[in-house]
Amino acid sequence: MKILLTGGAGYIGSHTCVEIVQAGHDAVIADDLSNSKPAVLERLKELTGKDIPFYQIDVADKEKVDEMFAKEHFDAVIHFAGYKAVGESVTKPLMYYRNNIDTALTLLEVMEKYDVNNFVFSSSATVYGVPETVPLVEGMKTGCTNPYGWTKLMIEQILTDASAANKNLSVVLLRYFNPIGAHPSGRIGEDPNGIPNNLLPYITQVAIGKLPQLGVFGNDYPTHDGTGVRDYIHVVDLAKGHVKAIEYADEHKGTEVFNLGTGTGYSVLDIVNAFEKANDLKIPYVIKPRRSGDVAEMYADPKKAKEVLNWVAEKNLVDMCQDSWRWQSNNPKGYDE
Ligand code: UFG
Repeated sequence: MKILLTGGAGYIGSHTCVEIVQAGHDAVIADDLSNSKPAVLERLKELTGKDIPFYQIDVADKEKVDEMFAKEHFDAVIHFAGYKAVGESVTKPLMYYRNNIDTALTLLEVMEKYDVNNFVFSSSATVYGVPETVPLVEGMKTGCTNPYGWTKLMIEQILTDASAANKNLSVVLLRYFNPIGAHPSGRIGEDPNGIPNNLLPYITQVAIGKLPQLGVFGNDYPTHDGTGVRDYIHVVDLAKGHVKAIEYADEHKGTEVFNLGTGTGYSVLDIVNAFEKANDLKIPYVIKPRRSGDVAEMYADPKKAKEVLNWVAEKNLVDMCQDSWRWQSNNPKGYDE
């Protein structure tokens, strides 16, 4: 298949690009580079042995998207492009709704015009809101605690409605848990703008000496050590889930939703300890107040993805910690070197 990866220069998109090409498909990237660097394209060439066609465009720009579709004759789209900072979405909700919803609608309209009928969407476990019970199962109640999450849930609804109305359209919604780690080569990885919001990039930047210490957001949650519990999944496993999903979409119609997680929850302190042990490093930390909007505990029930997609996460926490650190230590300034 020839597959368009919107946001394909980003963290999850770039790792998925490698797996897509390794599975024998062709990848094309559309990315405005607002949260990624052009250097990733060179690295992708190095890892895949292929020059990945690249369009530096905003996926909400319908004219440019149309031109690209006219030229490329895609079989499928994996849509990663979007704003993704939870806190920023609370202060700039309109920017989030405009951008994230617009890009999805633009893609769907242009796909319909060019009769492209396979769509995989980068959704998030955040659509489960504040969980009543864990593990989280796909059929459980949804609802969000911030505009970023609502854009994910709204796009899930738009895609579900679009595939109900257009019987040719096939949609797979992937609800990611917490992707961490990096490609084992150390050549691609997560390179956040500014001070990281997420736990692992924060830890690796403390390890490299860029940040003095980690702040642990709350140690009074009802969890085994009081710190927040999440389902951390290696980004390469997550990327492989996209290959399964797009192949599934090609063979089925309608909409399906899958959790992509490991099914195991680790606390913030579990992660700090595992990272220290895996890499023989010390991560200084202080306990801070809870971060607003955080929940105590989230982890996936990954059964459906196993049964239907034949996908399971294969890498463990040691792999995740070592690969995160290899990326950061080999690229202290991310892609900027
Ligand atoms: N944490 C800290 N200190 C930090 C950063 C995070 O203690 O500096 C803690 C958080 O409180 C939380 C855990 O580490 O308990 C994980 O936090 P992240 O910010 O790494 O991840 P979240 O679970 O908050 O959010 C992630 C993605 C969202 C997505 C969500 C889905 O960033 O985009 O998972 O569940 F919506």
